Amino acid sequence: MKAGERRAVVVVLAILLGVGGLTAYLELYQGERVRERMAQVAGERARDRMAAVARIPRNMSPADLPEAGSRGARALATYCVQCHDLPVPAMHTPEEWRAVLARMERHIRQRRGGPFSRVAMPSREAWAALEAYLARHAQRPLDPASLPDLDGPGGRAFQEACSRCHALPDPAQHRAAEWPRVLLRMQANMADAGLTPPDPEAARRILAFLQRHASDAPRCDPPGAGASC
Ligand code: HEC
Ligand code: HEC
Repeated sequence: MKAGERRAVVVVLAILLGVGGLTAYLELYQGERVRERMAQVAGERARDRMAAVARIPRNMSPADLPEAGSRGARALATYCVQCHDLPVPAMHTPEEWRAVLARMERHIRQRRGGPFSRVAMPSREAWAALEAYLARHAQRPLDPASLPDLDGPGGRAFQEACSRCHALPDPAQHRAAEWPRVLLRMQANMADAGLTPPDPEAARRILAFLQRHASDAPRCDPPGAGASC
């Protein structure tokens, strides 16, 4: 072999080794990182899913549903308990329900297919009944512009504690005397969902805020005027 040929062989070998090494590096090292990242994403997704499912109250029975026995309530208690506890209409506003139902449809599609799949898809009529039913008994959202003190200490504590599972609820959907009971139930819902309930001081402020804007509270005109408003 002439010296020139030997050099050419060495160069070709060097190139091959370089390419091989780079490929191996990408395959092994980067592949490992990609796999790690994918596992991490899958773990995060599983955690998010568990946290989302935990928001559904436990121990609700079909008899507890509003308009129990109606077509929509029956569809809810039939199709929506196949993967988790019974969701209740007051958990979400009509707008939120549309998004949740679209997600649930995807979950059902993903779990279907295959001869052993047991997850049943509601018929088109059952979906329509369900959608109308959820909207009819949905959470009543608050129009933030309607409350001037939403950014005060009580309003901020209320926003922080009460917008984590459903839209910020309208305080005018209950009378002042009803709010302590509802607040206690929400604190139990928070504990069930693994969320930190407000501390006693925050809870006191939230209750005062809710009662100040309850359906039977004195109306403020102009808004925010007077000590009792
Ligand atoms: C195929 C299984 C499956 C079925 C059937 C199913 N869900 Fe879900 N649901 C899930 C999963 C998974 C999550 C958690 C991830 C998420 O929120 O998308 C969830 C979470 C939820 C949540 C809590 C999350 C939130 O945003 O409040 C509600 C409410 C809910 N589902 C309502 C329903 C309703 C209503 C139906 C009936 C139409 C239904 N689900 C049927 C799988 C299902
Ligand atoms: C852990 C999630 C979660 C948090 C946080 C939460 N809620 Fe709820 N809320 C629910 C669920 C679940 C329902 C439906 C079941 C029920 O009524 O207990 C609901 C329903 C409601 C309803 C309609 C039912 C009724 O009795 O009128 C109101 C009003 C309400 N929440 C107010 C609040 C207020 C005020 C706060 C803040 C102190 C709050 N929620 C925080 C989960 C939550």
